[in-house]
Amino acid sequence: MTLKDRNILLGVSGGIAAYKVAQLARDLTKEGAKVDVVMTEAATRFVTPLTFQALTHRKVYTDLWQEWTEEEKGHVTLAHRAELAVIAPATADIIARLAQGLANDILTTSILGCTAPLIIVPAMESNMYQHPATQQNLATLRERGAFILEPGVGMLASGASGVGRMPEPEEILGYIRLALGKNSGDLIGKRLIITAGGTQEPLDPVRYLGNRSSGQMGYALAQAALERGADVTLISGPVNLKPPVGCKFVSVKTAREMEAAVQRALFEDELPADVLVMAAAVADFRPVTSSDHKIKKDKTAPTIELTLNPDILGGLKDAPGLEKLLRVGFAAETDDLHANAEKKLNNKNLDMIVANEAVSSIGHSDNQVTLIERGGIITEFERKPKRAVAELILDKVVELLAKKTA
Ligand code: C5P
Repeated sequence: MTLKDRNILLGVSGGIAAYKVAQLARDLTKEGAKVDVVMTEAATRFVTPLTFQALTHRKVYTDLWQEWTEEEKGHVTLAHRAELAVIAPATADIIARLAQGLANDILTTSILGCTAPLIIVPAMESNMYQHPATQQNLATLRERGAFILEPGVGMLASGASGVGRMPEPEEILGYIRLALGKNSGDLIGKRLIITAGGTQEPLDPVRYLGNRSSGQMGYALAQAALERGADVTLISGPVNLKPPVGCKFVSVKTAREMEAAVQRALFEDELPADVLVMAAAVADFRPVTSSDHKIKKDKTAPTIELTLNPDILGGLKDAPGLEKLLRVGFAAETDDLHANAEKKLNNKNLDMIVANEAVSSIGHSDNQVTLIERGGIITEFERKPKRAVAELILDKVVELLAKKTA
């Protein structure tokens, strides 16, 4: 599920962080969302409505008293069409007015009439934020179901350092995606464990054996699953990517650490897992020994003796208690792709395997995959960005989960 055509009410109140929210409005619009920007009078002192209008290509609402038309019935229309309301920045004043249930401008009136999930992003001077009045108002709003995205600690507009800094637009966007998924996604109530990236097998404190996996496929799957409302545990080898907002993130280095993390996620978490997607490129071998000291350069190169790593997926083949777990593996092959992938599907007792050609998939931002299910059902797709591939894989996961529980 994407942000395309989702109706989002973006409330802007009068704080200096309003300038950063212009970026948020632009990012949301770029992803296809229909953003209704609703500004308090004070907000218009910081950023003009025209700025938001130009960025969202839509009318901006600043006045409770603007005339209603046949199609546009002021705050009523705004409140009813919103699938999600976000207030960023939220000043102490708007937080107090919302907590009181006041309806004295276009923003408070729209929010009062809106039943969609509400995200509040406070941003203000530290003392104002920490004041018991503000904290009590936030507690009231939280109790009523609003999600408060806590401000960060750092440099404030005044030049002082403290709590009250608005999270960056990218992070707010992450929470918007999450909230939309939790409200309407097709994986609501499902728990997915996803592995990503390559593992690193140490030779000494500074060297390792690794592979070219970038983690993009696994992270795209985690992001897409969150946006469909899933509860996601992402277990990742070392990569250069930020974990998606809202996932439970476990960082590992070696195959054995990944195995332990997968087992913990499967057997020790309170919630049972519904799906395990092993997108990680787990190292098949590791050096038998890893030196505590950096191996010195010598006239002769050292010989590295290797041993087999555990097969994480294969090891779970007959594990008791996982009968209901949907298992998805990946097969990256350079030869006989389909035959080898099907062999792995059977040997590792998987429900589906994603077959891709190794050289053109690992480390690339797009991928050409074939999905092979039990019973020889094969679906081949064209090369696509990994995010789009993630959606195709999850479409199948949703289908297979429905079959499994039927
Ligand atoms: O056997 P092969 O490595 O080709 O299998 C690939 C699939 O098995 C992938 O889903 C990968 O994440 C998983 N795997 C594993 N443990 C290993 C090696 C691979 O779980 N040691």
